[in-house]
Amino acid sequence: MVLNIVALVVSVLIFSEFPAGYGLSSNYYLKTCPGVDSIVTNVVKNAVSKDKTVPAALLRMHFHDCFIRGCDASVLLNSKGNDKAEKDGPPNASLHAFYVIDKAKQEVEALCPGVVSCADILALAARDAVVLSGGPYWDVPKGRKDGRTSKASETTQLPAPTFSILQLQQSFSQRGLSLDDLVALSGGHTLGFAHCSSFQNRIHNFNATHDVDPSLHPSFAASLKGVCPVKNKAKNAGTSMDPSSTTFDNSYYKLILQGKSLFSSDKSLLDFPKTKALVYKFASSKQAFSKAFVKSMTKMSSITGGQEVRKDCRVAN
Ligand code: HEM
Ligand SMILES: *[C@@H]1O[C@H](CO)[C@@H](O)[C@H](O)[C@H]1NC(C)=O
Ligand SMILES: *[C@@H]1O[C@H](CO)[C@@H](O)[C@H](O)[C@H]1NC(C)=O
Repeated sequence: MVLNIVALVVSVLIFSEFPAGYGLSSNYYLKTCPGVDSIVTNVVKNAVSKDKTVPAALLRMHFHDCFIRGCDASVLLNSKGNDKAEKDGPPNASLHAFYVIDKAKQEVEALCPGVVSCADILALAARDAVVLSGGPYWDVPKGRKDGRTSKASETTQLPAPTFSILQLQQSFSQRGLSLDDLVALSGGHTLGFAHCSSFQNRIHNFNATHDVDPSLHPSFAASLKGVCPVKNKAKNAGTSMDPSSTTFDNSYYKLILQGKSLFSSDKSLLDFPKTKALVYKFASSKQAFSKAFVKSMTKMSSITGGQEVRKDCRVAN
């Protein structure tokens, strides 16, 4: 018993003094807010029970956060007058469910005020979103700080769905992420919805010789054209990423191999031998995909950048 306590104290000291990698640690709030993980999980669970689109929104929100200024909750800040924030920048069509993070923050503040960053809450919520959709669980390292700046103009730094494999590789490597991470994280597209504007380049005036991207499965291309008959029209129309778009599974990779992925960026994962081999691997093993996804999410989620613990996730202190 005494030995156990000694062991616990020693490991707590070791982990909090020397956090495992990246300056973050799983037990960062052990003394200051031990209930934070379960508070966030319960809030997310509750929201998902009322709205099945919440998991996809939270996962994408975390990705956007981490790709601009690091995972510093800059994606959560509101615009201030003429200073437009990221959430009012162009590729924001499917960013939503901000209320879930507000609710989690409110509950966390009630228990341990001024301690837990919004960036950590978003990272936890993204993990919960994956778990609640049937995906893998992982322990989220914590200790991120919130930033004070969010600029709509910086959303152009996000990778676009029209990107080639070379452009994707560059975008990821600028953030310390590899081709392995690119293929695994793209599997996030097993969840959610895409608007016509995100894939219309493949079904209207694809290039000088082909109206439709010939790598698309013909019947799939026809169904996309049915949903999005005219370029730059039907602002709200679109389609599920995947027929099982509320289930976190490896079907995304199977669809790529069938010519049924939505974005040029998805399809381009077949354009390098290394990334193509990973698409095949993940298409044939949900387990291999889950393992790789957890590893790469932890890596992306550990790109830090902020300075403070925000009181209100929508406003810098
Ligand atoms: C590889 C580069 C990526 C590109 C080019 C990309 C692009 C896009 C685009 C264009 C949409 C649809 C937006 C719309 O039409 O409303 C989308 C949705 C989504 N993306 Fe990505 N994405 C990328 C990586 C990721 C990553 C790394 C994740 C998470 C791990 C992710 C998760 C999602 C999710 C969950 C949705 C659905 C959102 C919803 O339904 O609310 N994406 N992405
Ligand atoms: C997306 O940005 C546009 C301006 O570019 C803004 O009018 C709109 O409210 C934003 N949408 C969301 C969901 O924040
Ligand atoms: C159009 O795209 C197809 C498939 O990628 C390609 O074979 C063809 O050469 C392209 N045409 C032009 C004019 O670039």
